[in-house]
Parts: sequence; structure tokens; C-alpha cells
Amino acid sequence: MVKAKGNGKVRLGIVGVSGIGVERLKNALATPEAEVTALADVNAEALIGALAQAPDAQGFDDASKLFKAKRCDAVLLNVPHFLHGPFALQALEAGLHVLAEKPMAIRVTECDAMLAAANAAGLKLSVHHQHRHRAWSRARILREGGLGRLLRATFIRNSRRTNAYYRTAAWRGKWKTEGGGVLINQSIHDIDEFLQYTGLPCEVRASLHNLVHDVEVEDGCVASLSYPDGAVGTFVTNLSSLSPTDVCEFECERGILQVSKPSRVGRLPGRGVYGFFDDNTEMWGKPPKTEWEDLPEVEPFPPGSLVRDFCLAIIEDRAPFVDGQGARDAVAFFNALVVSHFLEKPARLPLDHAEVDDVFDDLAKGRWKLDRRFTAQAEAELAGAR
Ligand SMILES: NC(=O)c1ccc[n+]([C@@H]2O[C@H](COP(=O)([O-])OP(=O)(O)OC[C@H]3O[C@@H](n4cnc5c(N)ncnc54)[C@H](O)[C@@H]3O)[C@@H](O)[C@H]2O)c1
Repeated sequence: MVKAKGNGKVRLGIVGVSGIGVERLKNALATPEAEVTALADVNAEALIGALAQAPDAQGFDDASKLFKAKRCDAVLLNVPHFLHGPFALQALEAGLHVLAEKPMAIRVTECDAMLAAANAAGLKLSVHHQHRHRAWSRARILREGGLGRLLRATFIRNSRRTNAYYRTAAWRGKWKTEGGGVLINQSIHDIDEFLQYTGLPCEVRASLHNLVHDVEVEDGCVASLSYPDGAVGTFVTNLSSLSPTDVCEFECERGILQVSKPSRVGRLPGRGVYGFFDDNTEMWGKPPKTEWEDLPEVEPFPPGSLVRDFCLAIIEDRAPFVDGQGARDAVAFFNALVVSHFLEKPARLPLDHAEVDDVFDDLAKGRWKLDRRFTAQAEAELAGAR
């Protein structure tokens, strides 16, 4: 077991120090239980800028050198998605605790290898899902709030990113390096939260699309979900909408939990949904009155909370707030949506790992792409044909 050494502080190495890495460096410097001892980035300018913030740290132009240098107890990985799995494994092998940025990795097979390596070495493995606590407190209402069995889960988020966003870094918008589009990047936070309420479905049927982006990955997904106990779900997300929509609700036997602004819980009297549909003698019988209760807003975690929690988890030898297993499930859910779309069949969970690897290998090799549906050229052709 590797614990904090010397002055009792966790010696942190930070890999990737531009983009979100700038924030993580600030978070680490503001963490009383941490000292920043090593920094790595292949971008020399970014590394020089970061070293100016943390002059006592040693700089590395290659992450592998940092992992081997024995300058730190733990690393924060703030690098493009395709590097999360390989870098985490290298770091764990070198005896370092790991806090990876989201997503945990691109493939569930990588996540399982990371979990196995961390468990075998007795090291902490966490993922920066900073919104999980919002769901964590409210999911208790579903489990313990007397609403009964979940019947239907509905998630719809219409959102946006411009094409300029995809031009900000060469790794974005590619199956090989980003590992997907909206699902693995923006929605992985939503998936992580959604799974706190429902757990993993046992089957998904998904249709991915790319409506307006000049990239090969999906900018939207429409999926239906089935759960082991018979509940059903809908998961819809996209980055192609100018009409932001946010629906997240869980309809249960005796009530409903709506998680939006404001969040509220509604309770039905008596036997609730079954009472209404079974006992009603009229064709258009009036539903019973729902008693609504607004729920208090959940404050965001203050910046740096997960970095501090990760350091405290090392010092106190406890699990970090965001465990690797939950983050792994979010990746499994995402993988299921991709597998279902490209193999044109329902994907059953637990997933067939060989199938996941085959699909993502093919995607990385460019065998399948999601071409933008609505292009200027297509619009012109359509106009000509009219
Ligand atoms: N938690 C959040 O809300 C949040 C927000 C933004 C980004 N992220 C995640 O953070 C990660 C990075 O995203 P970003 O937007 O900062 O990307 P970015 O492209 O802006 O920065 C990535 C950094 O990694 C460095 N890098 C690339 N290859 C490297 C290598 N081999 N060794 C060392 N450094 C290397 C780059 O030079 C760059 O400095 C992604 O996983 C992203 O999903 C999370």
C-alpha cells in the first residue's frame, strides 16, 4: 500500500497541464494535503507555464518518464481520452494512485484492466465525475423514499457545441482519439449521474447520428433501455440543438422523481399507478392527485473538491468519493450504445468484451464513420431537385 510520505502530504504528479489541466493544477496547489512535485506535457509551452505556477515541481516532456521518476505518490491524468487507459495502467504499474479525468477510458475492457491493476496493487483509482454527488443524494429518494418500483426512466438533453469547438484540438471528433462524440465527452457526466438512479440496464437499442458536425463521431443518440426487473427507459442526448431541453425523470409505482430545475418529487395515494390502471371502472378515469414537494437545489462541489477527496482517500486509506467501478459502468453504458448502433442489434449487458473491442478497433481504423447528415452540399442538391 502506497501512502503519503515524508511530511504526510500526497506528492502529486500532473499529466496534461493545459485545458482542464490548468484547473487541476490550481486545485492541487490549493489542496492542503498535497504538494505538486511533478508535471508532464508534450506541449513545451504549456509545461513552462505550469512550472511557473509550481516552481518546486520537476517537469517532464514525456508522461512515461514522470511515472518512472519516483517523484510522486499519485497522478492526475488530464490528457485526451485515448491516453486515459494506457497512462493509468503505466502509473498503477509504477505504484502510483490515479485520478483520471472523465471518461475513465474509451472501452470497458480498458476500465476493467485499470480496476484489476488498482485492486491488485492496493492503489486508489478515481475519475473526475464532479456531478455525481447531485445524483447521489437524490437517488436515495428512489431507493428509500417509498415511491415503489421504478417503471420508466426518461432522460432527454438537447445541447450544443459548435464546429469551432471540434477544431480546438486535433484529438477531438475522432473515434480513435476521442472515442466518440457527445456520449463519451459531454454526456458521460449525465450517464454517470443517470446510473446512480437506475443502475445499468440489461439491454439497450441505440441509434446514433451526426446532424450538423464536420466530424466522424456522433453528435446525438436516441436509445431505448430495458432493466432486469422489467422497467423501461429512454436516453436521448445531442449537441446539435439551439433549443436546450433538460428532462430527467423517474416514474415509479407510487410517485415520480423529476430531476431538473426545480427538482421535485410527486407522491400518488393508495396503490398509485397500479391502483389507477387496474381499479378504474371508467374509460377516461381521472388520475389521483399527485402531492408535489420541491426538492432543494444541490450545490455544486466547490472547485478542487474531488482532488482533495482523492488525496484524503490516500491518506486515510479509504475509497474515494467517485469510485472506479461506477465510472466503469458509465463507460459500459456508452459502449453498449455504440455497439448496438454499429452492429444494428440490441446490446445486452454485461457486454461481450470481444465484441466491444472489435467494434472500437473497426471505428479506430476508420471502417465506420457517422457522416454529417445535413451539409451545405446536400441542401443545395435537395434545393436543385425540388
Ligand atoms: N471534468 C470535466 O468537467 C472536464 C472538463 C474538460 C475536460 N475534461 C477532460 O479532460 C481531458 C483533457 O481535456 P482538455 O479539454 O483539457 O484537452 P486539451 O487538448 O485542452 O489538453 C490536453 C493536454 O494533454 C496534453 N497531452 C497530450 N498528449 C500527451 C502526452 N502523451 N503526454 C503528456 N501530455 C499530453 C496536451 O499537450 C494538452 O496540454 C479529457 O479527458 C476531457 O474529457 C474534463
